[in-house]
Amino acid sequence: MKLQLKTPQLYIETYGCQMNIADSEIVAGILLTQGYTLSSDVEHADLILINTCSVRDNAEQRVWNRLDFFKGLKRRHRGIMVGVIGCMAERIGDDLAKHEAVDIVAGPDSYRDIPMLLDKAKTEGKGINIELSEVETYSGITPERIQHDQISGFVNIMRGCNNFCTYCIVPYTRGRERSCDPKEVISEVKSFIALNYREITLLGQNVNSYKWIDGDTQTTFPQLVEMVAQVDPTVRIRFTTSHPKDISDALIEVIAKYPNVCKHIHLPVQSGSNSVLERMNRKYTREYYLERVNKIRELIPNCGLSTDIFCGFPGETEADFQDSLRLMEEVGYDLAFMFKYSERPGTYAAKHLSDDIDEKTKTERLMKIINLQNGISKKRNQTDIGKTYEVLVEGFSKKSENDLVGRTQQNKVVVFPNKGFAVGELVNVKIISSSSATLLGEAINDKN
Ligand code: SAH
Ligand code: SF4
Ligand code: F3S
Repeated sequence: MKLQLKTPQLYIETYGCQMNIADSEIVAGILLTQGYTLSSDVEHADLILINTCSVRDNAEQRVWNRLDFFKGLKRRHRGIMVGVIGCMAERIGDDLAKHEAVDIVAGPDSYRDIPMLLDKAKTEGKGINIELSEVETYSGITPERIQHDQISGFVNIMRGCNNFCTYCIVPYTRGRERSCDPKEVISEVKSFIALNYREITLLGQNVNSYKWIDGDTQTTFPQLVEMVAQVDPTVRIRFTTSHPKDISDALIEVIAKYPNVCKHIHLPVQSGSNSVLERMNRKYTREYYLERVNKIRELIPNCGLSTDIFCGFPGETEADFQDSLRLMEEVGYDLAFMFKYSERPGTYAAKHLSDDIDEKTKTERLMKIINLQNGISKKRNQTDIGKTYEVLVEGFSKKSENDLVGRTQQNKVVVFPNKGFAVGELVNVKIISSSSATLLGEAINDKN
């Protein structure tokens, strides 16, 4: 019998935004070249990494709880190493390093250093690198796909953020904005397609400010989307997040022009009040935002629209809050991610604006936002009844293997009877009923 040497097992847990998922794949790519094998079994891992988010306080609390769990695990299984990576590592790396469970801490721009930090932790003591970089884009690293059975993958096209919205921690945890070479973006997209992925999402905190300059030529975001869309017309393209200030006519036209560029735009509004938007440093007004929405509806009549919105920003009056509700109604979002303001240490708002909306009011306002949006989503979904949508099959429905689940280009979830379609197939589905969260339909493709 051959002696099989066990390779060290790497387990990565990811919190926060899609960019963190893409980053975990970069980290896995780096560690696989060091001999690690990816594992989904935390109990038997040799190295546990937790990729963290700092955007709201509750995101950080979850990580502290997980670290306490890892502490117990380390006591039971000697030799496990634990690393904290991502935005929280960047924000409070020194505090994290004091936790008994933690061996290494690496910020979003120091992932190439992780092997070295692990060596240091084994010999000298905890390894920390939370240096931010103005140039790191992880060029030349092949990300390791964490879930190969998926059909939808993420490609980072830029890192960092220069917008400094006054409430937001991201510019501090991710550093300055930098775009990736379009040649590398295209080659990553091709590697996904080679692995049978059927949908690619281009990622960045502000994707539509993407810009790559190479000598005299420059590639803008609409140009990049066009290049990516042309790689394979049967593969869907999505992108997120678009900042309203950069949603140009050229971009809307590219979305309209290419059938495989999904007819969906995630356009975070944050607030419907001009005075709040100004204090948030969002760089647009309610009127400008609504004008952009009209332009989108004019050029892409079937475009899905989603948003991020939050209540309780410093100084938000009842009238400001009502402006947010009215804007939500006016736009008629298909979906919204809704939050209450969480003060983040070090941001402009934390330093200069008082967190003066009490918790009870924040919660009441959030409930009103959620209730309003549920009604709007329900109504929007009702208007889909009778229409036929292209659905990308993602798998079986949660409730039954007799049903499949997938998404429309507009990013709506559709459940329909399984007539032998495969995961990754595009199926035309006629919608027959709906709720606020899901559409139910019937496939109209001929299956044979
Ligand atoms: N780059 C994206 C969003 C990044 S963070 C954009 O510009 O829209 C995701 C969402 O979290 C934000 O859109 C915002 O709605 C919310 N968010 C960010 N900071 C927050 C804070 N301090 N409190 C509550 N919500 C916050
Ligand atoms: Fe944060 Fe604003 Fe940058 Fe989005 S655009 S990541 S909200 S600072
Ligand atoms: Fe969170 Fe960092 Fe993303 S703070 S939202 S993980 S960029």
